[in-house]
Amino acid sequence: MISRAIIDEIVARNELEDVIGRYVTLKRAGSNYNGLCPFHNEKTPSFTVFPATKSFYCFGCGAGGDVISFIMREENLDYVGALEFLAARAGITIPTDESPDDRNTVPRKRIFEMNLAAARFFRECLFDEALGGEGLRYLTENRALSTATIRRFGLGFAPNSWDALTKTLKRQGFTEDEIVAGFLGKRSEKSGRVFDLFRNRVIFPVIDTTGNVVAFGGRVMDDSKPKYLNSSDTPAFKKSRHLFALNFARKNAEERLILCEGYMDVIALHAAGFENAVATLGTAITSEQARIFAKHTGQVVICYDSDSAGQTAANKAMRLLGEVGVDVRVLKLEGAKDPDEYIKKFGADGFSRVLDQSMTGFDFRLGRILSEYNLALPDEKIKASAAVCQMIADAHSEVEREISIRKAAEQIGVSVEAMRSDTERIRKNRLREMKKKQSQDAQLAVKNFGDRINMDAAKNIRASRAEETVLGLILMDDGFRQEAATGAVGLSSEDFFTTFGRRVFDAICELERSDGGFSKAMLGQSFSADELGRIEKIEWERRALARNDREVFLAAVGALRAEASNLDKDDTFADLRRRQAALKQAKEQKK
Ligand code: UTP
Ligand code: MN
Repeated sequence: MISRAIIDEIVARNELEDVIGRYVTLKRAGSNYNGLCPFHNEKTPSFTVFPATKSFYCFGCGAGGDVISFIMREENLDYVGALEFLAARAGITIPTDESPDDRNTVPRKRIFEMNLAAARFFRECLFDEALGGEGLRYLTENRALSTATIRRFGLGFAPNSWDALTKTLKRQGFTEDEIVAGFLGKRSEKSGRVFDLFRNRVIFPVIDTTGNVVAFGGRVMDDSKPKYLNSSDTPAFKKSRHLFALNFARKNAEERLILCEGYMDVIALHAAGFENAVATLGTAITSEQARIFAKHTGQVVICYDSDSAGQTAANKAMRLLGEVGVDVRVLKLEGAKDPDEYIKKFGADGFSRVLDQSMTGFDFRLGRILSEYNLALPDEKIKASAAVCQMIADAHSEVEREISIRKAAEQIGVSVEAMRSDTERIRKNRLREMKKKQSQDAQLAVKNFGDRINMDAAKNIRASRAEETVLGLILMDDGFRQEAATGAVGLSSEDFFTTFGRRVFDAICELERSDGGFSKAMLGQSFSADELGRIEKIEWERRALARNDREVFLAAVGALRAEASNLDKDDTFADLRRRQAALKQAKEQKK
């Protein structure tokens, strides 16, 4: 655990406007700053930085918080990771605190040290004929990698032994618990002893953009299963937030990045001179990874396996990358199953040629749809045309639709006019559906249904409103917060109706009572980035209101306590039912 004093220093030495200014172009607006939100796509700025309270909030997407939660979101880090990032930025060293009560959580730094030691061990084994000769021959002969490439990627070999790595790490001072926490070993349920997880596999270390070894992938050298073993998430690693070889590729990302499926594809591409290739780590691409792409480049060429699984995955990747606003292209490899094989067969020149012909998202999807139909048959032609119109109707720009329609009509062999009117009809229907849904959504929103962060809010609107008032006030006002924390107003966490509200209340009061007092910077320990955004929203909505005085505070506290004592606690839907009954009554009176 990082000490309170260090956290305060980290926050103090990283001025919010300054940190955010590196990512967002901020314009002064009165005492605040405005800019385009980095967390969602927008054309008019709804992202605001409030220097007075050292906080930011986006009125468009609800992201909000302090400098720590900004970095958590922007750099895809957890709370501790964000603190480390900001500490490094300000030149602060975080002392490794080994207080006895933290023994079961292994610090990230420790895992990185251990991973580095493991990577060294794997590499030494690879170049040791007795231990890893088989691995080296597999890489150089079967996979045709040069020694230079093997060294550049730090490839290694996990010997065929139950505990060679565990023993080596223990000798270097790493504990069994650390080895297990870092996903390098596993404790046997029978004997209680720790054994190596990676055995008899060639090893691909995963290195992050700051140079830490964060994870490993290991491949068997024959057809046994599983082909690859990948590190699970550890305290220092989340698969969904990393890309293999981004440490190299980000330096060559200016024009574009190439996204492939596998470790070997990436390595083959780099060896052939395409040093802008990356891959996900044995999973489908996530929206977090899509945002990483958008941070580094304007164009992504997806180059997945040519089989149907690969093409379906490409379709999904295209959607996620499209959402973050990068120009997405798709490569279709003919005559080879993946980029690795393609380069072997057709060389770097061959790959370079297909790279230049990479299809736009539209061409790729059009090709996929048309391949499902036999256009020689009239009724199949109609179905194909209908499916293509559905897709074209997605495009917001009229020019884009027109170009797409012309292209598609020619390929299917139908008239441009027919496709145009079909597409517009689909758009009109959708618009109608959307309007209907929007008004339904608005009604639901009124009732607070579908709130992902505060799921109980819908069950008692009155209580959850009073909660937000109380929380907003104790967040913004030191006096109210002190009264709440000392119990002076007679409010306790049991009076809170929603789980989220109670958690926020407890966290604030606990901090208020702690030695250092309340600090928003500490909330990140207990809440996710989305939850921090909600907390910020509660505070800002409160600040925006005209009256924030003691009378309002006491009224809200009173309302909360009244709700808590009145409410039949076993029946959380009581409030909803009461209102439905009232509605019914009103209707009947009308008759
Ligand atoms: P592929 O089977 O296409 O692997 O899976 P590849 O990289 O082309 O491997 P080679 O050429 O046969 O050596 C693509 C990716 O899916 C993940 C790995 O990240 C792999 O690189 N994968 C595959 C696993 O995580 N586990 C598996 O068992 C198989
Ligand atoms: Mn392959």
